[in-house]
This record gives sequence, structure tokens and C-alpha cells, in this order.
Amino acid sequence: MSRPIYVLNGPNLNLLGKRQPEIYGHETLADVEAECRRTAEELGLGIEFRQSNAEFQLIDWIHEARESAGGIIINPAAFTHTSVAILDALNTCDFPIIEVHISNIHKREEFRHHSFVSRVASGVICGFGTQGYPLALMRMARLLEQQTAV
Ligand code: DQA
Repeated sequence: MSRPIYVLNGPNLNLLGKRQPEIYGHETLADVEAECRRTAEELGLGIEFRQSNAEFQLIDWIHEARESAGGIIINPAAFTHTSVAILDALNTCDFPIIEVHISNIHKREEFRHHSFVSRVASGVICGFGTQGYPLALMRMARLLEQQTAV
């Protein structure tokens, strides 16, 4: 099997479904993981689905991914807007990176409009609710196909 796609989730996403459902919806992170597993299986991809509230943990997982993954899909949550350290870690990876946000960050407070991670992302999906995750996996599959085609 090809290298797995790491699907990384940042702080407070463990509370998905309970946390501001008017913004993030009623699905839990376990629901999102199940949907990702279904989609990944259809696409013939393996996934590592993880969440942490700690910046260092996300960085350590990115370091792990750079050795063993085929790509990263990341919702860095609030670290999107603050973390040069996560950007630096992602910059050490030489595979596709896709940034996902459940909400439309551009429609929200000014401080959410800037993303450090977007500088390194192949693309960004935001505002499609949790459907953004399976959409990101579909895009990842296409990017990987294009890589092997050349
Ligand atoms: C988020 C948007 C961020 O601004 C916020 O801090 C989050 C979640 C999203 O998925 O919409 O925690 O990344």
C-alpha cells in the first residue's frame, strides 16, 4: 500500500459537535474520522487521523509524516493564525499539503483572515463544513496520481 495521508487536527476540534454548533455543525470528530475513512477507502488511500490541543504534538506528527506519509491534510484550527512553528515544520515536507477549515474563515473576525499555513499549502478548503475533509482527500488523491503520472 502507498504511504498514508496524515489528517491532522488542531486545538478544540476534539469538541466538534459540542463547540459552537452554529459555526462548526453537529458532527463530532469521530463522525469526521469515519467519513474520512470511508472516502479514503474508496480512493484506495490509507489515513492516519489525529487531533491534538498541543502545538508541539502537531509539530512532532508533521516530523513523523515527513518520513512516512504521502501527504498531509491539516486543519490547524487556531494555530492557523498564529503558528510560524507549524509553518516551519510543514516547510520540511516535500509532498502535497492541503489546509482545511470547517468554517469560512474569511467571513469571520479579521484575525482569522490570515493563515501562516496557506503559504505552504497546495490548496485551501474552507466554509464547506466537515465535507471539506472528504473533498480534501479527493484532491489529495488527484495530486498523488499526477505525481506518479510523470
Ligand atoms: C477553524 C477556524 C479557526 O479560525 C478556528 O480557530 C478553529 C477552527 C475551522 O475549521 O473553521 O478552531 O480552523
